Amino acid sequence: MIIHNCEQKIIKGELQVPGDKSISHRAVMLGSIANGTTVVKGFLMGDDCLNTIACFKEMGIDIEVGDDNRVIIHGKGLKGLKAPAGPLYVGNSGTTIRLLSGILAGQPFKVTITGDQSIKRRPMGRVIEPLRLMGARISGEGGDNFAPLTIKGGKLKGITYKSPIASAQVKSAILLASLYADGQTVIEEPYKSRDHTETMINYFGGMVKVEGNKIISKPVDRIEGREIWVPGDISSAAFFIVAALILDGSELIIRNVGINPTRTGIIEVLQEMGGRIEVINKRMICNEPVADIRVCSSPLKGTVIGGEMVPRMIDEIPVLAVAALFASGRTYINDAHELKVKESNRLTAICSELRKMGGGIREKEDGLTIYGDNKLKLKGAVVDSYRDHRIAMSLAVAALKACGKTEIIGFDCVDISFPGFYDVMMKVLDV
Ligand code: S3P
Repeated sequence: MIIHNCEQKIIKGELQVPGDKSISHRAVMLGSIANGTTVVKGFLMGDDCLNTIACFKEMGIDIEVGDDNRVIIHGKGLKGLKAPAGPLYVGNSGTTIRLLSGILAGQPFKVTITGDQSIKRRPMGRVIEPLRLMGARISGEGGDNFAPLTIKGGKLKGITYKSPIASAQVKSAILLASLYADGQTVIEEPYKSRDHTETMINYFGGMVKVEGNKIISKPVDRIEGREIWVPGDISSAAFFIVAALILDGSELIIRNVGINPTRTGIIEVLQEMGGRIEVINKRMICNEPVADIRVCSSPLKGTVIGGEMVPRMIDEIPVLAVAALFASGRTYINDAHELKVKESNRLTAICSELRKMGGGIREKEDGLTIYGDNKLKLKGAVVDSYRDHRIAMSLAVAALKACGKTEIIGFDCVDISFPGFYDVMMKVLDV
C-alpha cells in the first residue's frame, strides 16, 4: 500500500471496526462442540477466523457462512468431532493452533495441525507441556516446541497448573481440554490475560469459576449452542484511536467496541498519556461489556508500562509505540518479551520500520524505549510489514503523520484481522 502525504490529515466522523478476533474464534470452537445451533452475528471474516471454520468443517461440523458477517454452526456435542481426512491447516493463526490443541487433546483420534511459515516458528511447548500433564499424547518438531503438532487425544485428567506466562492462548487450551477431563482443573496465571474463554464457556452452560488470577473449571456432560453477538475488536479500534489522537483537529466515534477489562489497557494508558478518550453508552451483550469510544486529538506525554498492563494490551503495543513517538518525553515499554514470539518479532519489526521513517525508538531486551518529540516530523519511506497485520496497520497510522510517500510492503496481510482496513481509513480521513 502507498500513502501520499503532503499536508496534515484529520480524522472525523464515525466508524465501526470488524468483530473481535478472539471472540469469533471461540464462538466457532465452542459452537462446534456444543449441542444444537449457535448463531454468530458480527463474526470477523478475517483469514485467521476463516481458518478456524475450515478446521472444524474438516472435522465434520456443518458451518454456514452467510452475508452480513453471520455464521451458523450446527454443533455436534462434546464427542461429535470426526477425524479429518488430512492435516488441519491454521494458516497464520496462533489462537487456532493453540486452542484447537486443547480440544483435540480430548478426541479419540490422531490428527496433525500445521500452518504457515510464521506459525512454524512460534513456541508450542507452552501448550504441549500442560496438555501432556492432562494425559494427551502430543508432539511437535524441534524438540517438541514447533508445529506441525501431532495429537493423539483421549481420556484426560484434571490438573492444577501454574502457568509461567500470562497467555490467554495457553490458558484457553487447558480450559478447552478441561471440558473433557475427569475431575476439576485449576490454572493460575502470573497476571490476568483475556478471559473470553471463561466467559463463553459459562455462557454456553459450562462451569468455570474465576478467583483473582486462578481459574477453576469443572467438567460438564454437555454445553448448549447459543446466539452470540460479537462486539467490535478493541485491538482493531486501537489503530483509529491512536490516529485520531495524533492528527491535530481530529474527532472520532467508534461504535460497538468490546471493552472487556482484560483488553482495555490501551485506553487506560493513552488516557494516562493525556489522550482525550471517552467510553460512552456502556452495556453488556452476551456477557461481554461493550461501549462506544469517542476520541479527540490531544497533546500526549510519555509514560512507562510493564507488569500486569502488558497482557491487557499485548496486541496494541506496536501502535502505542507510534503514539509515543509524538508524545513529549520518553516512553518505556518493559516486560514485553512476548512480543518477540508473535506473528513477527514485533519489537524488532516496529523499531526498525519506524526508524526508517525518522522515529526515535530503540529495542531493548524486554521491550522498547521511545524518544518522544511533540514536534516530530516523520518522513515517508519504504517500510516492511514483516507480513504481520498489526505491524502493517501501525505503520499505516504512522504514515498519516509522515511527509512524503510511504510504501508498506506486504500490506495485504491486514486481511488476517481487519479486512477493509484501508476503506475504513479512507472513509474517516478528511483530506
Ligand atoms: C489471543 C491471545 C493473545 C493475543 C492474540 C489472541 C487469544 O496471545 O496476542 O492475538 O485470542 O487468546 P497470548 O495469549 O499468547 O499472549
